[in-house]
Amino acid sequence: MKFGHFDDAQREYVITQPDTPLPWINYLGNEEYFGLISNTAGGYSFYKDARLRRLTRYRYNNSPLDMGGRYLYLRDNSTGNYWSPSWMPTRVKLDEYECRHGQGYTVITSRLNGIRSSARYFVPLGESLEIWQVTLTNENESEAELSLFSAIEFCLWDANDDTTNFQRNYSIGQMEIVDDVIYHKTEYRERRNHFAYFACSGKLAGFDTVREDFLGPYRGWDEPFVVEHGESCNSEAHGWQPIGSHHVRVHLKAGEQRQIIFILGYQENPVADKFDPPGSQIINKKSARKAIEKYLQPINADKAFYELREYWTMLLGKLQVSTPDEHTDRMVNIWNAYQCMVTFNMSRSASYFESGIGRGMGFRDSNQDLLGFVHMIPERARERILDISATQLKNGGAFHQYQPLTKRGNNDVGSGFNDDPLWLVLGVAAYVKESGDWSILDEQVQYENEPGTESPLYEHLQRSIQYTLDRLGPNNLPLIGRADWNDCLNLNCFSDTPGQSFQTTTNKDGQVAESVFIAGLFVLACQEMAGINIKMKEGRGDSFVFPLSSEDYLGFADDMEKTVWAAGWDGDWFRRAYDDFGHVLGSKENTEGQIFIEPQGICVMAGLGVENGNVVKALDAVGEHLATPHGIVLQQPAFSQYYLHLGEISSYPPGYKENAGVFCHTNPWIMIAEAIVGRGDKAFDYYTRINPSAREGISELHKCEPYVYAQMIAGKDAATHGEAKNSWLSGTAAWNYVAITQSILGIQPTLDGLQIKPVIPAEWNGFEATRNFRGVRYEISVKRDGPGNEISLEVDGQPIEGTVIPLPKENITHVKVKAVIR
Ligand code: GLC
Ligand code: GLC
Repeated sequence: MKFGHFDDAQREYVITQPDTPLPWINYLGNEEYFGLISNTAGGYSFYKDARLRRLTRYRYNNSPLDMGGRYLYLRDNSTGNYWSPSWMPTRVKLDEYECRHGQGYTVITSRLNGIRSSARYFVPLGESLEIWQVTLTNENESEAELSLFSAIEFCLWDANDDTTNFQRNYSIGQMEIVDDVIYHKTEYRERRNHFAYFACSGKLAGFDTVREDFLGPYRGWDEPFVVEHGESCNSEAHGWQPIGSHHVRVHLKAGEQRQIIFILGYQENPVADKFDPPGSQIINKKSARKAIEKYLQPINADKAFYELREYWTMLLGKLQVSTPDEHTDRMVNIWNAYQCMVTFNMSRSASYFESGIGRGMGFRDSNQDLLGFVHMIPERARERILDISATQLKNGGAFHQYQPLTKRGNNDVGSGFNDDPLWLVLGVAAYVKESGDWSILDEQVQYENEPGTESPLYEHLQRSIQYTLDRLGPNNLPLIGRADWNDCLNLNCFSDTPGQSFQTTTNKDGQVAESVFIAGLFVLACQEMAGINIKMKEGRGDSFVFPLSSEDYLGFADDMEKTVWAAGWDGDWFRRAYDDFGHVLGSKENTEGQIFIEPQGICVMAGLGVENGNVVKALDAVGEHLATPHGIVLQQPAFSQYYLHLGEISSYPPGYKENAGVFCHTNPWIMIAEAIVGRGDKAFDYYTRINPSAREGISELHKCEPYVYAQMIAGKDAATHGEAKNSWLSGTAAWNYVAITQSILGIQPTLDGLQIKPVIPAEWNGFEATRNFRGVRYEISVKRDGPGNEISLEVDGQPIEGTVIPLPKENITHVKVKAVIR
């Protein structure tokens, strides 16, 4: 069952029924000011940091699930009937309803009794504010006397404190209402130099900032007293729960249309300039007035909206494909790329499953996120890499997370996730391949954000590799530490105390438990280092002294590979780990957890077993034991009980999350691996199984948005097999983008140029693509002329050797590529 449809021409998903199985959300904002918005206008906004600078309040795990947001109420003053044009929160049945989610904007349109309302929500580029452009149309033959009310609830900035510290918070709320603008200035009198404003283009008939006056005692957002009675209280909040509500009366003749604009914004003032007049306690509003005046004009709001659309046309235009499969096209061309931007911006902080007060930016997460993002805005990827690497520890290890506002490593979570530093190598390699900007390796970057510790980024990468070499276990495999990619495989934790964090509790000295996954990742990272070294040598010659050569790195990779064959291969697949007792995990010897997906993916990606044929065995084992119609589960058999020595993985009921759920992040590794062995049909089949667009028809089961990936789909051991959770913020976005564009479609940036090496399904007769790469636009046409994967390339009419297109001469900005597959 569907709850809407894709409008690919507009790059929108159109929800046509408001009661979707879960709130289907979208994101507003691009760089600093962000908002989450659901299909019924629920959600909240924040500036930079969802925890520390929360503008509006949102209550997670509420009932109804999605309550609180950017609400509007319409009231027909001749009858007293009122409704929500976004259906929630009044849930009055609408004659028509439509929500269009696009890139950075959402438009909710509805109609009731001949009154059409359309609200367009977006954040203009470069601004710290959001615009709600509301257009009301009277489609009746008679006049309409309407009231329009807005309603938001302010958060007292620190979202964590806001939901816990009521003895203080109920006394600190402060507002100013001046010239019809509602200003929220809690704590501005003391150490904050920022405030929020909520403005409206209509002439106000009234306003409210006291929540209980607006709603009425013992009432909810579904039947506000003020809306019911059609009169605002003009209330000014002192403590308690400050809100912002405007009331505008709208008289519409038959057929008449009117636009009313609301602006919600965030403003900082220099400390010396906080008050006007100086010495008073009144906000200096000059800085905010400019933006308010500008964007309350429809013409400026329209212009800002078109600029946002153009911006996305430009970003998405960097890679466009036309294949025989519509699900592939719309994910690659629109939604998957868009989700990559959102995960890059948010990491794992704020979604409808991440409260915005929990996690900061993950070290491994952010490095992986940029794999799917780097081609869109390489400059931002560069900045991110430098931020992340400055939190790296001197011993090469990494803080597991850092805070976006301070850009400092997070001490609560600390370090010791032994895969973390290796992802930095992959992130930097991806950046250099995309941009050709070798100067990043010379950037002087601190360790642990400590002045005086600066060294070239290149050295950080070396230390990442050294970190693994310094931590090998009894089998010479890398020690796992607190966890590797799988945060829940906690082999040194042994926690028997409820509530203890599995990620930070370590009861063992960590000298025994080893990870085959890190071994594979290490080989991959060494290969990247070798490639980088070779090119750097070419560029810099003998004047540059390399402490380690490319041969050294390939030597490390070789040794690790031997170790994997000795201790990490189970006969038919790669093993997963060794526990603290030195017992194997992910082996036929186990009764539960016999085979895991992660080492199959990463080891094949590192090329292990390509020569001896073990890759095919490993991938066939995945197909046999782990694949389901809803994706590939993380391991089998699921853990049926809690195992002290395995940790959080066994804390989940079978079929959910890391305990044998379809943890979507890992599925593209298998797609890439299948492409490596040349099985395009299998790679594409796995791609399609979790492609949200391809799952649109089973939305009642899948439940999450059909336009973005979710972190997890319940596995075959679960009662709700096929049900997705944790949509939006997941490494799934970047990795699927990489798998489809770089492996299956085979358009892959390399250090030497763009590679074209598709491994597509047998029944595809080809595809077309355009790709911007290092300032050159490649127009690529791929034709199938045989059942295999042999590629021959013609570049601007000339045949070339191999699959990598050499970088064109300067001044050439367009290149035509013809690929034939035989
Ligand atoms: C979550 C984490 C990620 C981890 C994965 C598997 O997605 O953000 O870092 O690799 O879970 O546990
Ligand atoms: C939980 C989740 C895992 C996530 C981790 C982050 O363990 O199961 O997916 O990576 O929390 O701390």
